[in-house]
Amino acid sequence: MLDNKKILLVISGGIAAYKTLELIRLLKKDNADVTCILTRAGEEFVTPLSVASLSGNKVYTDLFSLTDETEMGHINLSRQNDLIIVAPASADIMAKMTHGMANDLASTTLLASNKSIMVAPAMNPEMWDNPATQNNVKMLRERGIVFCGPEKGDMACGETGEGRMSEAQTIHQAVHDFFFERPLKGKKVLITSGPTYEPLDPVRFIGNRSSGKQGHAIAKSLLKAGAHVTMISGPTNMPDISGVDIQRIETAHEMLDTTLDALPADIVICAAAVSDWALTSPSAQKMKKKSDDDTPEIKLKQNPDILKTISQMTDNRPALVIGFAAETNDLEENAAAKRARKNCDWLLANQVGKDENGTQRGFGTDENEIYFVTQQEQTRWNNMSKDSVAQRLTDHIIRHFNNK
Ligand code: CTP
Repeated sequence: MLDNKKILLVISGGIAAYKTLELIRLLKKDNADVTCILTRAGEEFVTPLSVASLSGNKVYTDLFSLTDETEMGHINLSRQNDLIIVAPASADIMAKMTHGMANDLASTTLLASNKSIMVAPAMNPEMWDNPATQNNVKMLRERGIVFCGPEKGDMACGETGEGRMSEAQTIHQAVHDFFFERPLKGKKVLITSGPTYEPLDPVRFIGNRSSGKQGHAIAKSLLKAGAHVTMISGPTNMPDISGVDIQRIETAHEMLDTTLDALPADIVICAAAVSDWALTSPSAQKMKKKSDDDTPEIKLKQNPDILKTISQMTDNRPALVIGFAAETNDLEENAAAKRARKNCDWLLANQVGKDENGTQRGFGTDENEIYFVTQQEQTRWNNMSKDSVAQRLTDHIIRHFNNK
């Protein structure tokens, strides 16, 4: 969300100006406070009325407006915003910015600005490729102007090449990236989540109460921090997360194979409640009672341990392997022993099952009480929401990679 962010949008002349209406809508939807300057050429493509209606703010068009300039409007506009976006940024306005020209409200405000500026260029491909424009682009980049686009594609003028203004959604994302650092950008994360189901026959299975809520919260939090997230999830009711690659599986063997196929990764987080056992030979048909007192015996075999398999890899072991532990008793001792046994870097242990009042803890609930164990430290995280656990874990991961 862009709460409390003040954005000044300078709309210069170009057919792509129509896209800025959608951009204003997206920024407003995100709670940004958007004020617009419309250049004279910009007014040829979008009207002050539509810009004012969407932004909910007065639209500035004239450098010599008596009411605005008695309050030094161009200085105020350049100072009271957190970010200035120029979209579309025509070749003309970029040339003015490069050479410090100030002959209208937009160029004067940009010259007077002490704030960050983002430009979304839009022009004919020949104009973009022209050495005059390219020199301007180079100088503006060197001065720290942030560029969003332009992109390649078919142009309104009928030509094809580089010069198309980025779509409103892309500029909106660039604004997010500008305000919120994406410290895990470039990091690839795999998360196992949810339960596994081990079939007894085609209709019955051995499963557990895991809801997948914690894995889901971690995926969202790491995605927000800029990581590339793949989640390998057992059967849950959790919705897909836009931007996260979700691979749905049922059994522990499928979870292992899918996780190994998705390697290499920088970080693996095993948040799944994997069934420790599967049937040696599940029945191909539905098992039937043969008599009134028929109680079939089932034979179990151990499932592969995904966390241990990855932690013990010798080639291309992920830099950080993190496990969870569901414990019903002796949380602290069991957690430390489990981390060492599985050879993972960090372990987040939580108490599951019913407490002394009969209230369910851990599985299926919205809260988790975590005992965080590494080789060096053991810390108790007080009872907090699964979203907060995810955020705290994300912060730890960011600090871990920053200190490297
Ligand atoms: N885990 C795994 N593969 C398994 C079993 C567990 O990857 N076959 C992972 C879980 O995702 C979790 C960690 O190992 O990160 C610990 O899981 P937990 O169920 O607490 O421990 P178990 O290894 O099953 O040990 P036990 O049931 O004996 O406590």
